[in-house]
Amino acid sequence: MPLAAKVTKPVAHDPDPDLAEKGMAVTISKISKRFGSTIALDQLDLSIRENEMFALLGPNGAGKTTLIHILATLMRPDSGTAEICGIDVVRQPRRARAALGVVFQEPSLDGKLTVEENLDFHARMYRMPAPLRRERIGEMLELVELATLRRRLVRSLSPGMKRRLEIARALVHDSRVLILDEPTVGLDAQSRGRIWEYLARIRARRTVTVVVTTHYIEEVEGCDRVCVIDDGRVLALDRPDTLRSRHGRHVLRVQALDASTAAEIAALHPDAVPDGDGGLAIVGGRTILEDLLRRFGPRIDQVSLERPSLGTVFLGLTGRHLREEGAAQQGAGKR
Ligand SMILES: Nc1ncnc2c1ncn2[C@@H]1O[C@H](COP(=O)(O)OP(=O)(O)OP(=O)(O)O)[C@@H](O)[C@H]1O
Ligand SMILES: [Mg+2]
Repeated sequence: MPLAAKVTKPVAHDPDPDLAEKGMAVTISKISKRFGSTIALDQLDLSIRENEMFALLGPNGAGKTTLIHILATLMRPDSGTAEICGIDVVRQPRRARAALGVVFQEPSLDGKLTVEENLDFHARMYRMPAPLRRERIGEMLELVELATLRRRLVRSLSPGMKRRLEIARALVHDSRVLILDEPTVGLDAQSRGRIWEYLARIRARRTVTVVVTTHYIEEVEGCDRVCVIDDGRVLALDRPDTLRSRHGRHVLRVQALDASTAAEIAALHPDAVPDGDGGLAIVGGRTILEDLLRRFGPRIDQVSLERPSLGTVFLGLTGRHLREEGAAQQGAGKR
């Protein structure tokens, strides 16, 4: 069997005995969406429990944003149904929107308004009465530590502050489900960490389901469940540790001394993928390592064996890296 073969069939995940009893924050049933000949979502099924911290992990073009646009009622699916807290997003879009707060992949704040005005405008759109608006805006600004900047023009904020404000805005109307599409892309490591701290703090303070899409695999470690999607389909869905033990594979990273050796190794392992540092990543363990050393010995500059991680889960399931750097740069360019 090819080692890093792309899995074309969705992998069955555990039927969860609790699923029926627990309340569902998001229920997606056989959702499909096409753009011309591109199938963005392919009969996708997904259930997210109330109060869950849920990660959607997938490479560029996997269908994450399309799914979020459908949940946010910005786009209609070609077929299938989606519900937010039991409310059908196509049939009752206004009610579904009231239950949902979204931080979109593309920035959507008004730079000419102040921090507070951005929140107030949003709260008015949700027809919140003035006293409640004031109360919630104050709470949310305090939560994301922007209270002292409430009169600042948004265009003068740092990228991390803008993301925090977008999170505050998504929560101001007492949304029960918070969806964030790549909230940390384009931010430095410290700002990324802070975004996750705020999410943890929000969950400690109120009952809210959090759904996050990300390219950064290490970020999903703290999530309750992780859904790996590619080509508009669910490839795997489980707790991070279960994903690792079930789908994680050892990965060999090999740096050849010269290009011709690299080409020979690639010919021997057609499913090897470039690891971004001029080397090759090959899904497989000790046997392959020993075989490579026997065949190529001194022509290998460096070789390392990586233990199963969420990164290798992803590589094993999709045959691709998440290309974190590329994604981060792309995201930074977009903002
Ligand atoms: N409005 C559109 N018109 C045409 N094709 C689209 C449109 N929106 C998305 N697609 C295509 O649908 C597929 C899924 O795109 P989507 O943006 O949902 O992926 P994604 O997982 O969010 O990717 P990324 O990580 O780059 O944000 C891609 O092939 C994309 O090119
Ligand atoms: Mg996207």
